[in-house]
Amino acid sequence: MFIGNTSSYIKPQAVLTADGSMTLSLPNSDEHYHSMHGALQESTHVYIQNGLLQIQKSAVRILEIGLGTGLNCLLTYDTFLKSENMHLIEYTAVEANPIEPDIIAELGYHNQIKSIDSEKFLKQLHTSPANTTFEAATNFYCLLHHRKIEEITLPKNEYDLVYFDAFGPRTQPEIWSEEILQKMFDSIDSGGMLLTYCAKGSVKRSLRSIGFLVESLPGPPGKREITRAIKS
Ligand SMILES: C[S@@+](CC[C@H](N)C(=O)[O-])C[C@H]1O[C@@H](n2cnc3c(N)ncnc32)[C@H](O)[C@@H]1O
Repeated sequence: MFIGNTSSYIKPQAVLTADGSMTLSLPNSDEHYHSMHGALQESTHVYIQNGLLQIQKSAVRILEIGLGTGLNCLLTYDTFLKSENMHLIEYTAVEANPIEPDIIAELGYHNQIKSIDSEKFLKQLHTSPANTTFEAATNFYCLLHHRKIEEITLPKNEYDLVYFDAFGPRTQPEIWSEEILQKMFDSIDSGGMLLTYCAKGSVKRSLRSIGFLVESLPGPPGKREITRAIKS
Protein backbone atom coordinates (compact mmCIF):
# COMPACT_ATOMS: atom_id res chain seq x y z
CA MET A 1 0.00 0.00 0.00
CA PHE A 2 1.35 3.43 -0.91
CA ILE A 3 0.19 6.33 1.17
CA GLY A 4 1.30 9.91 0.72
CA ASN A 5 4.91 9.45 -0.31
CA THR A 6 4.52 7.04 -3.22
CA SER A 7 8.17 5.97 -3.07
CA SER A 8 7.65 3.93 0.12
CA TYR A 9 5.70 0.68 -0.01
CA ILE A 10 4.03 -0.41 3.22
CA LYS A 11 3.14 -4.10 3.33
CA PRO A 12 -0.21 -4.68 5.03
CA GLN A 13 -0.37 -7.26 7.82
CA ALA A 14 -3.13 -9.72 8.72
CA VAL A 15 -4.87 -8.97 12.03
CA LEU A 16 -7.80 -10.58 13.84
CA THR A 17 -11.05 -8.62 14.32
CA ALA A 18 -13.63 -9.06 17.08
CA ASP A 19 -16.01 -11.33 15.13
CA GLY A 20 -13.21 -13.86 14.50
CA SER A 21 -12.58 -12.80 10.89
CA MET A 22 -9.31 -11.28 9.73
CA THR A 23 -8.50 -7.98 8.10
CA LEU A 24 -5.37 -6.12 7.05
CA SER A 25 -3.67 -3.36 8.91
CA LEU A 26 -1.15 -0.83 7.69
CA PRO A 27 1.92 -0.86 9.97
CA ASN A 28 2.66 2.41 11.77
CA SER A 29 -0.85 3.63 11.17
CA ASP A 30 -4.21 2.98 12.83
CA GLU A 31 -5.75 2.35 9.39
CA HIS A 32 -7.39 -1.02 8.79
CA TYR A 33 -9.12 -2.48 5.76
CA HIS A 34 -12.24 -3.19 7.85
CA SER A 35 -13.72 -2.38 11.22
CA MET A 36 -11.82 -3.99 14.08
CA HIS A 37 -15.27 -4.81 15.54
CA GLY A 38 -15.63 -7.42 12.81
CA ALA A 39 -14.55 -7.49 9.17
CA LEU A 40 -17.03 -10.09 7.97
CA GLN A 41 -19.82 -8.52 9.99
CA GLU A 42 -19.13 -5.06 8.57
CA SER A 43 -18.89 -6.13 4.91
CA THR A 44 -22.05 -8.22 5.17
CA HIS A 45 -24.03 -5.48 6.90
CA VAL A 46 -22.97 -2.47 4.82
CA TYR A 47 -22.64 -3.83 1.31
CA ILE A 48 -24.70 -7.01 1.16
CA GLN A 49 -27.65 -6.47 3.50
CA ASN A 50 -28.09 -2.73 2.91
CA GLY A 51 -26.89 -2.74 -0.71
CA LEU A 52 -27.05 -5.85 -2.85
CA LEU A 53 -30.12 -7.35 -1.19
CA GLN A 54 -32.04 -4.06 -1.59
CA ILE A 55 -31.65 -3.95 -5.38
CA GLN A 56 -34.78 -5.24 -7.05
CA LYS A 57 -33.15 -6.31 -10.30
CA SER A 58 -32.10 -9.63 -11.72
CA ALA A 59 -29.07 -8.17 -13.52
CA VAL A 60 -26.90 -6.05 -11.25
CA ARG A 61 -23.89 -3.93 -12.23
CA ILE A 62 -21.60 -3.20 -9.31
CA LEU A 63 -18.63 -0.86 -8.94
CA GLU A 64 -16.32 -1.23 -5.95
CA ILE A 65 -13.86 1.48 -5.04
CA GLY A 66 -11.02 -0.20 -3.13
CA LEU A 67 -11.16 -3.96 -3.81
CA GLY A 68 -8.56 -4.55 -1.08
CA THR A 69 -8.87 -8.11 0.23
CA GLY A 70 -11.78 -8.90 -2.10
CA LEU A 71 -14.08 -9.73 0.83
CA ASN A 72 -16.96 -7.62 -0.54
CA CYS A 73 -16.61 -9.29 -3.91
CA LEU A 74 -16.49 -12.75 -2.31
CA LEU A 75 -19.65 -12.06 -0.29
CA THR A 76 -21.37 -10.72 -3.40
CA TYR A 77 -20.43 -13.90 -5.25
CA ASP A 78 -21.70 -16.07 -2.39
CA THR A 79 -25.01 -14.12 -2.31
CA PHE A 80 -25.36 -14.41 -6.08
CA LEU A 81 -24.85 -18.17 -6.05
CA LYS A 82 -27.50 -18.59 -3.34
CA SER A 83 -30.01 -16.21 -4.94
CA GLU A 84 -32.96 -17.36 -6.99
CA ASN A 85 -33.65 -13.84 -8.30
CA MET A 86 -30.25 -12.63 -9.44
CA HIS A 87 -29.30 -13.92 -12.85
CA LEU A 88 -26.35 -11.74 -13.78
CA ILE A 89 -23.70 -9.74 -11.95
CA GLU A 90 -21.09 -7.56 -13.58
CA TYR A 91 -18.56 -6.58 -10.91
CA THR A 92 -16.04 -3.85 -11.66
CA ALA A 93 -13.44 -3.05 -9.01
CA VAL A 94 -10.89 -0.28 -8.80
CA GLU A 95 -7.80 -0.89 -6.68
CA ALA A 96 -4.74 1.34 -6.58
CA ASN A 97 -2.53 -1.15 -4.69
CA PRO A 98 -3.39 -4.79 -5.40
CA ILE A 99 -2.54 -7.20 -2.59
CA GLU A 100 -0.32 -10.21 -3.09
CA PRO A 101 -2.24 -13.53 -3.19
CA ASP A 102 -0.16 -15.01 -0.34
CA ILE A 103 -1.34 -12.23 2.00
CA ILE A 104 -4.95 -12.91 0.95
CA ALA A 105 -4.51 -16.63 1.74
CA GLU A 106 -3.35 -15.71 5.28
CA LEU A 107 -6.71 -14.06 5.94
CA GLY A 108 -8.45 -17.43 5.75
CA TYR A 109 -11.76 -16.15 4.32
CA HIS A 110 -12.04 -19.49 2.51
CA ASN A 111 -12.40 -21.16 5.93
CA GLN A 112 -15.29 -18.90 6.90
CA ILE A 113 -17.27 -18.79 3.69
CA LYS A 114 -17.43 -22.48 2.97
CA SER A 115 -20.67 -22.73 1.03
CA ILE A 116 -18.78 -21.96 -2.18
CA ASP A 117 -15.27 -22.57 -3.46
CA SER A 118 -13.97 -19.35 -1.86
CA GLU A 119 -10.31 -20.30 -2.13
CA LYS A 120 -10.49 -20.78 -5.88
CA PHE A 121 -12.54 -17.62 -6.34
CA LEU A 122 -10.14 -15.43 -4.31
CA LYS A 123 -7.11 -16.86 -6.09
CA GLN A 124 -8.65 -16.09 -9.45
CA LEU A 125 -9.70 -12.61 -8.30
CA HIS A 126 -6.23 -11.69 -7.06
CA THR A 127 -4.24 -13.15 -9.94
CA SER A 128 -6.37 -12.11 -12.90
CA PRO A 129 -4.85 -9.51 -15.18
CA ALA A 130 -6.21 -5.99 -14.95
CA ASN A 131 -8.56 -4.62 -17.61
CA THR A 132 -9.66 -8.10 -18.71
CA THR A 133 -13.10 -9.40 -17.81
CA PHE A 134 -13.29 -12.96 -16.45
CA GLU A 135 -16.30 -15.12 -15.68
CA ALA A 136 -15.92 -16.50 -12.13
CA ALA A 137 -19.08 -18.57 -12.53
CA THR A 138 -21.83 -18.61 -15.10
CA ASN A 139 -23.10 -15.04 -15.35
CA PHE A 140 -20.79 -13.59 -12.68
CA TYR A 141 -18.28 -11.36 -14.43
CA CYS A 142 -15.38 -9.47 -12.84
CA LEU A 143 -13.34 -6.63 -14.26
CA LEU A 144 -10.44 -5.16 -12.29
CA HIS A 145 -8.70 -1.83 -12.76
CA HIS A 146 -5.37 -1.49 -11.00
CA ARG A 147 -5.49 2.27 -10.95
CA LYS A 148 -6.42 5.13 -8.68
CA ILE A 149 -10.03 6.19 -8.84
CA GLU A 150 -8.80 9.73 -9.51
CA GLU A 151 -7.21 8.54 -12.79
CA ILE A 152 -10.09 6.53 -14.20
CA THR A 153 -12.83 7.59 -16.55
CA LEU A 154 -16.04 5.75 -15.68
CA PRO A 155 -19.01 5.12 -17.95
CA LYS A 156 -22.05 7.34 -17.32
CA ASN A 157 -25.32 5.99 -15.86
CA GLU A 158 -23.90 2.48 -15.70
CA TYR A 159 -23.92 1.01 -12.18
CA ASP A 160 -26.78 -0.10 -9.96
CA LEU A 161 -24.61 -0.25 -6.90
CA VAL A 162 -21.37 1.38 -5.77
CA TYR A 163 -19.47 -0.06 -2.83
CA PHE A 164 -17.47 2.99 -1.78
CA ASP A 165 -14.89 1.33 0.45
CA ALA A 166 -11.82 3.54 0.31
CA PHE A 167 -9.80 4.45 3.39
CA GLY A 168 -11.46 7.09 5.55
CA PRO A 169 -11.55 10.85 4.94
CA ARG A 170 -8.89 11.44 7.63
CA THR A 171 -6.35 9.26 5.78
CA GLN A 172 -7.34 9.99 2.20
CA PRO A 173 -9.40 13.21 2.03
CA GLU A 174 -8.88 13.44 -1.75
CA ILE A 175 -11.03 10.34 -2.35
CA TRP A 176 -13.97 11.91 -0.51
CA SER A 177 -13.80 15.18 -2.45
CA GLU A 178 -16.87 16.50 -4.27
CA GLU A 179 -15.06 15.84 -7.53
CA ILE A 180 -14.77 12.09 -6.86
CA LEU A 181 -18.26 11.83 -5.34
CA GLN A 182 -19.63 13.59 -8.45
CA LYS A 183 -17.81 10.98 -10.55
CA MET A 184 -19.65 8.29 -8.56
CA PHE A 185 -22.99 10.07 -9.06
CA ASP A 186 -22.47 10.34 -12.81
CA SER A 187 -21.53 6.65 -13.09
CA ILE A 188 -24.64 5.43 -11.24
CA ASP A 189 -27.79 4.63 -13.17
CA SER A 190 -31.08 6.20 -12.16
CA GLY A 191 -32.43 4.39 -9.07
CA GLY A 192 -28.97 3.07 -8.22
CA MET A 193 -27.21 3.58 -4.91
CA LEU A 194 -23.87 4.14 -3.23
CA LEU A 195 -23.08 2.42 0.08
CA THR A 196 -20.33 3.35 2.45
CA TYR A 197 -19.33 2.62 6.03
CA CYS A 198 -18.48 6.33 6.38
CA ALA A 199 -21.06 8.44 8.22
CA LYS A 200 -19.11 11.69 8.46
CA GLY A 201 -21.33 14.79 8.31
CA SER A 202 -19.23 16.59 5.70
CA VAL A 203 -19.34 13.55 3.38
CA LYS A 204 -23.13 13.32 3.70
CA ARG A 205 -23.45 17.06 2.99
CA SER A 206 -21.32 16.68 -0.14
CA LEU A 207 -23.40 13.71 -1.32
CA ARG A 208 -26.60 15.76 -0.83
CA SER A 209 -25.23 18.81 -2.61
CA ILE A 210 -24.34 16.64 -5.62
CA GLY A 211 -27.94 15.40 -5.86
CA PHE A 212 -28.07 12.12 -3.93
CA LEU A 213 -30.90 11.31 -1.57
CA VAL A 214 -28.93 10.45 1.57
CA GLU A 215 -30.00 8.00 4.27
CA SER A 216 -28.25 7.31 7.57
CA LEU A 217 -28.81 3.66 8.44
CA PRO A 218 -27.94 1.78 11.63
CA GLY A 219 -24.37 0.48 11.49
CA PRO A 220 -22.96 -2.97 12.29
CA PRO A 221 -21.98 -3.69 15.92
CA GLY A 222 -19.47 -1.06 17.09
CA LYS A 223 -20.60 1.61 14.62
CA ARG A 224 -23.63 3.86 15.07
CA GLU A 225 -24.41 4.67 11.43
CA ILE A 226 -23.54 3.97 7.83
CA THR A 227 -24.57 5.86 4.70
CA ARG A 228 -26.70 4.96 1.72
CA ALA A 229 -26.95 7.54 -1.09
CA ILE A 230 -29.60 7.00 -3.76
CA LYS A 231 -29.65 8.54 -7.23
CA SER A 232 -33.39 8.99 -7.66
C1 LIG B 1 -10.72 0.21 3.42
S1 LIG B 1 -9.57 -0.61 2.34
C2 LIG B 1 -10.43 -1.77 1.39
C3 LIG B 1 -11.48 -2.63 1.87
C4 LIG B 1 -11.83 -3.63 0.83
N1 LIG B 1 -13.07 -3.29 0.19
C5 LIG B 1 -11.82 -5.00 1.44
O1 LIG B 1 -12.88 -5.61 1.58
O2 LIG B 1 -10.73 -5.45 1.75
C6 LIG B 1 -9.35 0.67 1.09
C7 LIG B 1 -8.79 0.18 -0.22
O3 LIG B 1 -8.74 1.29 -1.13
C8 LIG B 1 -7.53 1.20 -1.86
N2 LIG B 1 -7.21 2.55 -2.36
C9 LIG B 1 -6.51 3.51 -1.72
N3 LIG B 1 -6.45 4.60 -2.47
C10 LIG B 1 -7.11 4.34 -3.61
C11 LIG B 1 -7.38 5.09 -4.79
N4 LIG B 1 -6.95 6.34 -4.90
N5 LIG B 1 -8.09 4.50 -5.77
C12 LIG B 1 -8.51 3.21 -5.64
N6 LIG B 1 -8.28 2.45 -4.55
C13 LIG B 1 -7.60 3.01 -3.54
C14 LIG B 1 -6.54 0.67 -0.86
O4 LIG B 1 -5.40 0.11 -1.49
C15 LIG B 1 -7.37 -0.35 -0.11
O5 LIG B 1 -7.31 -1.60 -0.74
